[in-house]
Amino acid sequence: MNKKIALTGIKPTGNPHIGNYFGAIKPALELAKEYETRYFIADYHALNQTKDPDILRQQIYEIAAAWLACGLEPEHNLIYKQSAVPQTFELNTILLAFTPKGLMNRAHAYKALLQNNLEANRDPDDGVNMGLFTYPVLMSADILLFDSDVVPVGTDQQQHLEMAADIAEDVNRNYNKELLKIPAPLIRKETGLITGLDGRKMSKSYNNAIPMFLPPKQLRKLLMKIVTNSQTIEESKDPETCNVFALYKLFADEKQQQEMKERYLAGGMGWGHAKQALFELMNEHLTPFRERYDTLMADKGYIDKILAEGSAKARELAEAKLVFLRKEMGVR
Ligand code: TRP
Repeated sequence: MNKKIALTGIKPTGNPHIGNYFGAIKPALELAKEYETRYFIADYHALNQTKDPDILRQQIYEIAAAWLACGLEPEHNLIYKQSAVPQTFELNTILLAFTPKGLMNRAHAYKALLQNNLEANRDPDDGVNMGLFTYPVLMSADILLFDSDVVPVGTDQQQHLEMAADIAEDVNRNYNKELLKIPAPLIRKETGLITGLDGRKMSKSYNNAIPMFLPPKQLRKLLMKIVTNSQTIEESKDPETCNVFALYKLFADEKQQQEMKERYLAGGMGWGHAKQALFELMNEHLTPFRERYDTLMADKGYIDKILAEGSAKARELAEAKLVFLRKEMGVR
């Protein structure tokens, strides 16, 4: 019964693409087999970038609907909104008292902005708000509040997790007691990269992504843009170097893969045919996801209810931790 706790934060940044699904969402949801899982929408983290209320509100709904549509079961996993757990921000204040400024100076995200400013001959602090500067502290509060054992993240978040462990160790050292559990990172391997439309890694910033919930017509149109070589219909083709096949493999079972390989090698199949076959297979797999997503987005009251219930549970856990910490620290 006493499962270890896995916790991860989800930034509300628009609709996920199939690279996000296979690379992050699916593996994070699979942790539920082994761990007690906690997922939260990092809405106050998003405020550092998104200051338009309508956009932020929409993005929160979209990301909640996306994770629910991808298989997050609220009955078996905790899902909540960071902003609905005010204890996060109290712990953030506590942790700030233990965080050396020099540690924040070393954060990659902040350093990258600083470097850009210096290179562009701007003031070094240009565009750097304190939320961004102290982002690793808030992220530490997210994690440490729930005694998380492991935190599944991509490699870009590794440094933040090291900082969370550093800060927690400083707190524990000061009180000579394990007040905070030291979290272990669960870094996702970058193997099995998902290829985008142009053959590079699928990424919003490369403009080569395939959104998860695109209507069939738009999905087909997008897939027709996959970059291929200029071989004629008659020529035999190599599936292993083909961007269409790379995507086909994600959705096809062994038998389907084998059959498609044979069609490639035999010749007589043009790129249009291959893309059409990919569309049909992908659409078949994505349709239930899209339908669940559309149903959820048409019933925001239901999403509100799920998040409110999860957040109430999260607040209970968090308050117990804060009662303990306040006493240990001498503010109560
Ligand atoms: N910083 C993470 C990201 O950009 C999101 C996040 C916020 C997070 N708080 C967290 C992830 C706590 C894991 C644990 O993706």
